Amino acid sequence: MESPFKVDVLKGKVALLTGGGSGIGFEISTQFGKHGAAVAIMGRRRQVLDDAVAALRSQGIQAIGIEGDVRKQEDAVRVVEATIKHFGRLDILVNGAAGNFLASPEDLSPNGFRTVLEIDTVGTYIMCHATLKYLKKGAPGKEPTVGGLILNISATLHYTAFWYQIHVSAAKAAVDSITRSLALEWGTDYDLRVNGIAPGPIEGTPGTRKLVPEEMKSKNQEFMPLYKLGERWDIAMAALYLASDAGKYVNGTTLVVDGGLWLSRPRY
Ligand code: HXC
Repeated sequence: MESPFKVDVLKGKVALLTGGGSGIGFEISTQFGKHGAAVAIMGRRRQVLDDAVAALRSQGIQAIGIEGDVRKQEDAVRVVEATIKHFGRLDILVNGAAGNFLASPEDLSPNGFRTVLEIDTVGTYIMCHATLKYLKKGAPGKEPTVGGLILNISATLHYTAFWYQIHVSAAKAAVDSITRSLALEWGTDYDLRVNGIAPGPIEGTPGTRKLVPEEMKSKNQEFMPLYKLGERWDIAMAALYLASDAGKYVNGTTLVVDGGLWLSRPRY
């Protein structure tokens, strides 16, 4: 689908995206690039990064891929420094890296629970911490008065509760809390906006493939009248809104992009 945004809304900006090589993260990388940003993508799998960078460059987007695990502070620092070395500045951090699998609490080991919190929650914090000095107003290569943006990809599972997702729900609830705390403190001190996006089920992503098996789709519609799959594009457009000047007064919010699904109740 054609973007409703002007192609230069992110001109001159540099974005670093964790999990930016696949799924929703890759679509955000693509749309940021198509709207003028240079993008650095961070991920654990070299081949995924290489394929993503090739696809971005083939569309004329300035892109690099750097291997790293968001759970490791030394990886985060190395990736951020490599991004600065290559592009000279940093304006946007997207925390898209996430771990997910279905497991009932009785089958989920404490280490499985911890692993997802380490990727989603601690990983988000590690990346925020590592990028602050380059995202804040007046950072190297940036305008003296305008800070950058952190965008945390969340979920809606934890607004109520979701079967077999105790670990992800806990992790994303904490991510939303990080969004608010940093928006308050870094918005005040560094003019840095911190927001989130909570996607609903998005067609063709690893998350939806795991959480919504094919045979469940028609059943979901029966019980949840607002059940409808979104597209990666929908999330990328929300990200563009928040990253562009259109979102300059939005701070500390997690924008739900799910067609209203989390409110859905059966008709009676
Ligand atoms: C139960 C599992 C498990 C599973 C891993 N574990 N997979 N337990 N069921 N399917 C447990 C392991 O037994 C182990 O605990 C612990 O987790 C760590 O596992 P490792 O394999 O050693 O860890 P690691 O290699 O780091 O992999 C972690 C991972 C990750 C979480 C499985 O690789 C992953 O999720 N990859 C997929 C990424 C993904 O799908 N991303 C999309 C996210 S979508 P023990 O006790 O045995 O040591 C998303 C959207 C949500 O988040 C909302 C959508 C609406």
